[in-house]
Amino acid sequence: MSLKLNPFLFQSQHLPSMTTFRSPKFIMASTLSSGSKSVENLKKPFAPPKEVHVQVTHSLPPQKIEIFKSLEDWALDNILVHLKPVEKCWQPQDFLPDPSSDGFEEQVREIRERAKEIPDDYYVTLVGDMITEEALPTYQTMLNTLDGVRDETGASPTSWAVWTRAWTAEENRHGDLLNKYLYLSGRVDMRQIEKTIQYLIGSGMDPGTENNPYLGFIYTSFQERATFISHGNTARHAKDHGDLKLAQICGIIAADEKRHETAYSKIVEKLFEIDPDGTVMCFADMMKRKISMPAHLMYDGRDDNLFEHFSAVAQRLGVYTAKDYADILEFLVGRWKVGDLTGLSGDGRKAQDFVCGLAPRIKKLEERAQARAKQGPRIPFSWVYDREVQL
Ligand SMILES: [Fe+2]
Ligand SMILES: [Fe+2]
Repeated sequence: MSLKLNPFLFQSQHLPSMTTFRSPKFIMASTLSSGSKSVENLKKPFAPPKEVHVQVTHSLPPQKIEIFKSLEDWALDNILVHLKPVEKCWQPQDFLPDPSSDGFEEQVREIRERAKEIPDDYYVTLVGDMITEEALPTYQTMLNTLDGVRDETGASPTSWAVWTRAWTAEENRHGDLLNKYLYLSGRVDMRQIEKTIQYLIGSGMDPGTENNPYLGFIYTSFQERATFISHGNTARHAKDHGDLKLAQICGIIAADEKRHETAYSKIVEKLFEIDPDGTVMCFADMMKRKISMPAHLMYDGRDDNLFEHFSAVAQRLGVYTAKDYADILEFLVGRWKVGDLTGLSGDGRKAQDFVCGLAPRIKKLEERAQARAKQGPRIPFSWVYDREVQL
């Protein structure tokens, strides 16, 4: 779900210096060059080489990490309440034919009949969304990179660790349900999809959150809303194509994402209350580097630009667009009342101005890009047996 945003937009912004706030301890540089892509592909059978940039780690100073320890009880009362008890949760089986029932084969046939009415481009977006969900081990890993909130043992009783494990457990149903539905639909090349998932989990992700829970929770607030929007749109499109069961599946997943967004954005709201200056600078920092989508390193063993191609289809169908990106930013700026913050430092005020002015700028550029946009080429997607899909 990438966005065709003008990179110059971000480069030309004058961002406040973060040096007073963030003190990187370690800096690692990737050594891969994009020019050696095909050669590297042969040498690296597990994951394709991707972007080159500096990875900063542990940027949050120790005294700020203490904030999260002091918020343990607050998180217990305010964040864990957004988890649903397992007994009250839906399960994938609730939306799938029961393999032990006599009607199983008939129900599968019905799914396959409905699936015939749905075009390939829709499947490309649904498969991309499913693959994104299936790379869940990466997202749990990402949350456990965050200083002050990580699950130190794998079964830690802290509120933060309980949240992360239970959040993962709730999320695990999303990929599971979509995967089983797509398998039964008979419309997609499961082997190619499974390979893409294996590559993606092997590649990981690089959200640029620097072990910093401020950055991490801003990222997850944004991402949960992005997935809420995209699953909501695939639900709407499934309905338009006459598949109400699939619409229900996408809709029920979107509802989970919304609940998760509420929890993560509440954490960031609390950070704004405790440390407005530090939080607004992190928000600006995160937006300056752009919110990379969780599956940005996606690869199927064939298409070096698979993620860009998938994103282009999602953009064209209106499943997830550059306008959605700007809308999410605008929503979060309003949700966190960033424009109303007072008593900020000079750098804090610059970050505030940057963040508050960014969504309108993205929208203006996007409108211009849309006006200039030409129809993209048709390219084969291995997920739908190399049938060509319009970008
Ligand atoms: Fe999800
Ligand atoms: Fe999610």
